[in-house]
Amino acid sequence: MAPPIAVTGMNDILPGESARWQALETAFRTVCDRYGYREVRTPVCEYVELFSRGIGGGTDIVQKEMYTFDDRGERTLALRPEGTAGAVRAVLEHGVLAKEPVVRWCYIGPMFRAERPAKGRYRQFYQVGVEVYGDPSPAADAECIELATRFIRDLGITDFKVRVNSLGGEGTRARYRDALVAYFTPLREQLSPESQSRLERNPLRILDSKDPRDIPLKAAAPSILDALDADDRAHFDAVCALLTTLEVAHVVDPTLVRGLDYYTRTVFEIVDTSGSLGAQDALGGGGRYDRLFLNLGADASVPAFGFGLGVERLLLSAPEPVARKGFSVAVVAAAKGDNLTVTGAALALARDLRARGVTAHVDTRFVSMKSQFRRADDLGAAAVLILGDSEVQAGEVTVKTMATGEQTRLPRAQAIEAVLAARSV
Ligand code: HAM
Repeated sequence: MAPPIAVTGMNDILPGESARWQALETAFRTVCDRYGYREVRTPVCEYVELFSRGIGGGTDIVQKEMYTFDDRGERTLALRPEGTAGAVRAVLEHGVLAKEPVVRWCYIGPMFRAERPAKGRYRQFYQVGVEVYGDPSPAADAECIELATRFIRDLGITDFKVRVNSLGGEGTRARYRDALVAYFTPLREQLSPESQSRLERNPLRILDSKDPRDIPLKAAAPSILDALDADDRAHFDAVCALLTTLEVAHVVDPTLVRGLDYYTRTVFEIVDTSGSLGAQDALGGGGRYDRLFLNLGADASVPAFGFGLGVERLLLSAPEPVARKGFSVAVVAAAKGDNLTVTGAALALARDLRARGVTAHVDTRFVSMKSQFRRADDLGAAAVLILGDSEVQAGEVTVKTMATGEQTRLPRAQAIEAVLAARSV
């Protein structure tokens, strides 16, 4: 029988890499805290209708990319392809807006889309995201976009570009959709097959195509910015002005339409410009979705804005940090594993060091001293604490400082204090 392998497009994050993930998560939590966002954790699967109604039945995500399955013959569930719909469901289900007029939530977690795997594109991937509910103002949009760029900069990423656009309100979108269909229909045969199918399903998405057959046709298409009504226009101008005030460099791109149907007014995307991501260069994106609550059955509409950033892509784009090993010690025992007095004393010493907050390594196989020392060295231990029969009988420990090779025999309590003192240097 062949050994098991992971599901295509789903990755293991091994301990060598997980330190970078943890650092990213810490940076995200720190920035969220500074901007007043609090973490929500929702389930990784939901009833499928949440996504088909929320994200839109004509989108690629709902049509082709969802992992759906029967919940023991009861209802159909889907692994979440994104975090926004589930967070809105949770806001509604828990009546959160009745208690606070403006709610700021953030999340970190795995999302699932059955896409063709490539560098930066996986079937299980992670997003960090934020959502603000209850604030219709352009200031909310601008502050949220600024938060995204702050976080990206905190990761050390400098080569990126912010693209912004407005999709207007529902009226604008419907009018613009008609204008696009009128424009592309006579050109149908010249479009790529994918865009031909989008012409029926989701014509705005033709603007997103990177196919060389579509590019010249897109260039002459009507611009959504010309279809905005006065209120939409004023909102968008205010967002752009505030971004300029906040020193968030941005380019207005009227072809930016996003792959989810719930957006109204402002949309944005942050693109890596270093070239390290290849074709999957979107670090993240988001926008305003003032109609999603209504579409999901809420009694009233709730203004909302948010974004999601792909963790794998951020890590591909971010510079490698300088490896910095934390302080640790190793406890070694001059005894074979069957000498329970000495091995017990070694385990107890490590336990007491750990209880005082020290990272202490023990090779519990208690093989030769030589190999215990080699392992301590490999793990970067600053000191090795040695216990043999004579130390245990005397209640003492031999402490060897690795940098100098110096060895001193100390009473057990003093040896622990010496380690604590060395750690705080
Ligand atoms: P999205 O643009 O579909 O938006 O995804 C956001 C980011 O997730 C992408 O820009 C990308 O970095 C990452 N991503 C998406 N699919 C994959 C994949 N297959 N493999 C690796 N990374 C991927 C949303 O999901 C919206 N919920 C964002 C949002 C929040 N809008 C409002 N609030």
